[in-house]
Amino acid sequence: MQPGLGGGPALDVLKGAAEGRALGDARGQHEAVCAFLDCLKRASQQGTTAETFTFVAKCAEYDRYLDEKVVEFRANPRGDWPSNAVKSDNNTVIAQVVDEIAGHLRSFSEPAQAYQSLVDYTQARIKALMPPEIAGMRQEANISLIFPFLEKALAVEGDVAEFGCFRGILSVKLAWLIRALGASKHYYAFDTFHGFEIDDPAGGALGVGSFRDDEFDAFGFLTKWSRILPLTPVKGDATKTCAQLKAPLSFVWLDLDMGVLMDPVLRTIWSKCGPDTVIGIDDVGRPETPTVAPWLDALLACGAVELVFDSDRIAPNTFIRFVKKKGELPPA
Ligand SMILES: C[S@@+](CC[C@H](N)C(=O)[O-])C[C@H]1O[C@@H](n2cnc3c(N)ncnc32)[C@H](O)[C@@H]1O
Repeated sequence: MQPGLGGGPALDVLKGAAEGRALGDARGQHEAVCAFLDCLKRASQQGTTAETFTFVAKCAEYDRYLDEKVVEFRANPRGDWPSNAVKSDNNTVIAQVVDEIAGHLRSFSEPAQAYQSLVDYTQARIKALMPPEIAGMRQEANISLIFPFLEKALAVEGDVAEFGCFRGILSVKLAWLIRALGASKHYYAFDTFHGFEIDDPAGGALGVGSFRDDEFDAFGFLTKWSRILPLTPVKGDATKTCAQLKAPLSFVWLDLDMGVLMDPVLRTIWSKCGPDTVIGIDDVGRPETPTVAPWLDALLACGAVELVFDSDRIAPNTFIRFVKKKGELPPA
């Protein structure tokens, strides 16, 4: 219920509505709708917290709902609402809308909603921004937990790098969304494009040849997409090829499944990351990839990075973390 939106009367008005305070007259209803719009505006400026996305996802739903109702009930344009009273042929609709907003606000306080809200939010953005032929392609990684953080990183200067892109489906989707959102960023997708070249040092499930899919030809696939998207596939051992990155980075996605691969990559790109660069790590704590969590734990413990988001807190066994640079890396 309190997604960091304090500091103004708007949230108090909505809290009152959520607690059941009557909004009987037109003036009270008008104030509640304006409060909702104000919270929507402020929520969109918030940092990356699950609560913010919960709130924004619901607000986005109501934003569309309000637009529909404005037409249906021939209300005056929404742009006029803050300065003029809301007018419509049947004002009870405003009460109905506010009542439903209040009902959803009550459910915001339930953490179980947080994951579903991220899923709903991402699906809504994908539906609005991507053709179904692309949206329907299946990637390994959980895009609902990745896209909202990439979207936040669009405000940060710099390119995007994905390490361990496998078939490149996530890369195409994210590069598409970056372009659709009008961001001038380039997406670099790193992979050997022939699977792992080493065995997991801790005896995990992955070894030489895992994730090899020669039939699919991911490098060729990404090369074709690079003609229309701001996307470059980079072939080879990412612990070495990552040195090709020269510009600052705004978003990094590390999906190399082993600490011994992620560590040299992060060290090499460290100087390209700033304090606002969003760094995502997949498979943290997954039993099949036993070296990822200890590697990240050590970086957190020495203060090199700080935790921004732990997906397992809202959806168990999703194994994703987002961190930001906080201090310096310990010696290798
Ligand atoms: C878990 S998969 C990535 C899944 C992908 N992100 C997706 O959503 O479809 C791990 C990838 O890391 C790649 N990989 C393993 N060792 C690598 C290395 N040294 N350099 C670059 N890529 C590597 C593998 O080829 C594999 O495609």
